[in-house]
Parts: sequence; C-alpha cells; structure tokens
Amino acid sequence: MVLLKGARVVDPQVGLDAVKDVLIDGTTVAALDDVIEASDGVEVIDCAGKVLMPGFVDMHVHFRDPGFEYKEDIQTGVTAATHGGYTDVATMPNTNPITDTGTSVRYQIDRGIEFGLARVHPIGALTHGEEGESLAEIGDMTMEGACGFSDDGHGVQSAGMMRTCMEYVSQFDRPVIAHCEDESLTANGVINEGRASTRLGMFGWPALGEEIEVIRDIELCRLTGCPLHVAHISTARSLDLVRQAKADGLPVTCEVTPHHLFLTEENITDSYNTNLKVNPPLRTRNDVEALIDGLIDGSIDCVVSDHAPHAAHEKDCEFEIAYFGTIGLETTVPLLVSNLVNRGLLPWSRLVEACAVKPREILRLDPVKVEVGGEATFTIVDPCAEVAVTQDYFDSKSKNSAFLGMRLTGAASDVFVDGKQTLVNGVVAE
Ligand code: DOR
Repeated sequence: MVLLKGARVVDPQVGLDAVKDVLIDGTTVAALDDVIEASDGVEVIDCAGKVLMPGFVDMHVHFRDPGFEYKEDIQTGVTAATHGGYTDVATMPNTNPITDTGTSVRYQIDRGIEFGLARVHPIGALTHGEEGESLAEIGDMTMEGACGFSDDGHGVQSAGMMRTCMEYVSQFDRPVIAHCEDESLTANGVINEGRASTRLGMFGWPALGEEIEVIRDIELCRLTGCPLHVAHISTARSLDLVRQAKADGLPVTCEVTPHHLFLTEENITDSYNTNLKVNPPLRTRNDVEALIDGLIDGSIDCVVSDHAPHAAHEKDCEFEIAYFGTIGLETTVPLLVSNLVNRGLLPWSRLVEACAVKPREILRLDPVKVEVGGEATFTIVDPCAEVAVTQDYFDSKSKNSAFLGMRLTGAASDVFVDGKQTLVNGVVAE
C-alpha cells in the first residue's frame, strides 16, 4: 500500500479541490480523507505543495513505430510520455506501414504493455494506407482496440470519401479525428500565409486551408451524425466554427497544441529555426489570443502535444525541405502550468478537464476519478519544479523541440498507472 500525504487533490468530476491524503491499495484508491494515519508496511510519499489529479492523456502523439523507429519507438515514446506526466497516450496511424489493420493496432497495444509505463491507445487510419481512396479495416481495428480514426498527417482530401468514412465510423461509437487541410490551398506552404511568409519570402499555408475543411467536416458531421474531433486547431475562425457547431448541438470537439497556444509566426526569424516548422503552421498573435480564450472558456476541449519526433538530419537543413513537427510530450505540462496555471489564467480544474477528463470522454476510454474505489491512475504536478528545456532534458529519442532554450516552472513529479508508480520524483521508473 502507498499513502500519498497532503497533496491538493483536484478532480472536478467529483467536485474535489482540497488538501487530502490518498491511500492506494493494489490498483485502486482504498481511502481518501483529510488525514489518514500510516499503518505498518505502508510506503508514505510526502506530496505537500503538489497537485494530484486524474492521470493525464495526450490524445495526439506520433510514435513512429513501426517504420521510423530511428525517430521514436514505442519504448522511448512511452518513456517520454511518462516523463511528461502522462498515464495514457493515443498514437496517430502515420507509421510505416500505416496503422490500418486490426493486427497493426494490436501490435502497438501489446508493445506498449511490455514496458508498463504510459498505456498506448492506437488511432486507426480512416482510409487504406492513408491514401484517401478506400476505407481501412475500421471494424477490425475497433475490435482490436482502436480508440478513434484519422488520416492525420494530411487528412482526407475528397469530401465524398470523408462522407463515406464518417457514415461508416458512425456505427462504431468512435470519433473521426480530422486533420483539416485542403492541400489544393496549402500546397508547398511551409509557414503561415501572411506577414511572416512575406517577410521571409517563403510559400504560405493560408488559414483558409484549415478553415475550409473545418466547415466541410462540420457539415459532414451534421449530415452523418458521426462524432467529429477537429485536430490541432490553429486559427481564431476555426475555433468560432467549432463554437457554432457546439451551439447547434452537433457532436463536435476540438484540441489545441502548446505550440499554437504559446508561439506565433513572429517567432520564426531569419535564423530559420526548423523546429518551428509545424503543420498546421504557427499563426498570428490574434489567433493565439483567441485559442487561449477558447481553452479557458472550455470551447477547446483538450490540449494535445502533436508530439512529432524527427531525426537531426531531417531538421538540420533548409526550412523548405525540413520535416513538419515538434516534439511536445515532455513540455506540454510545464508550458501549461508556467504560462497559464501559475499565472492564475487557467484554474487547475480546467487543466484536469483539458488533459484528463475530455480526452477520455472523446476516445471512449473509461473515466478515471479520484474517489474511493476508483482506479489509482494519477498525475501529480509540482507547480514549483524548475525545467530547463535543453536536449538533455528529453527522454524522447528525438530532440526537435520548438521550446529548446526556455526555462519553465511546473512539471509532473510523480505518476501512477493502475496503482503502479511510473514516475518517481521526476524520473521514469526502471
Ligand atoms: O507537424 C506535424 N507533424 N503535423 C502533423 O500533422 C503530422 C506530424 C508528423 O507526423 O510529423
């Protein structure tokens, strides 16, 4: 048994925000009270000053396994996830081969279980090979444990094909996760179309390239009734469209990444830092302000990293040919706590909703609540922990972080998955 002493326990699902002791027995919470005395043989962990919450889920990561294990594999991926404070991750299907069969879904789940760290929930492809031409084996993947379906990386280009996907998926009670990008508008674009693309003389990726597909997919949701989750929204107008869809009562949700919350196109200078090349691109100050407001007011359901590991040679090159993506699993919690929670802009309870409650709801995973009899799956954050974002800080196999060089305050110190401690004082358990 393990006794967690004196943490501030925050779980809006059970109306809890108070300093408590939590006793773990096996995989569940055996007791939760103001003061619990330790009996013989109980391991006591002092959590004073820390915040204990239901385990965090990052519902948008790329683990590159199988096919691109030189960037990240499932072992290094779950290690980075644990270091970042996560108990669960959902992996995108743009592996090689593409995750579009039941067997490939089962492979990722089983491989994840081997390491006993963060749990892996694969997202299956919508179309075979993410080619946008024929349906992937969606029923088979659902049977094997896929938690959602997406052609993330580029999206389904044909509206007719997307309609077929959504009609088909709607029978399985799983969300379609849309990477909204109309490639006829974004072709060759490497940076937001606007001031920065003009200043640096690079091809632009216009806001409309995203928004036109957000409009399309919301209308397809209205037509088919299929739950729609809009991935990595990056513009103020995309957010307005999602808000309107929700007001219309449609089953539409969305997510935002820390790079779209805390960086703008103005961060890309003539030093051409390719770690700032992401898809969708960094946008304007106006977009960032709207997205932060949307996260605070709950219009944005969750925060995800879009953890996109790439090897040094894929980033250490001209901006135009560098791969899109930044790693993020190990900086999301520090960025949110530093920039929003510690500044009093985002309450801890909203952080819990965005990082633990909503992702589970959207992916149809069992809820995790901090209550007696509940699953002992927790993320414990030290709001005062200092994080220097250097290459050495990362457990990920790749180091392509848009946030290198930053100093942040607040990070996960301890993580429990089903009663097992996977992060101990900031260090991933052996
Ligand atoms: O920046 C990105 N990188 N955005 C995506 O949608 C895909 C990802 C990747 O797979 O590298």
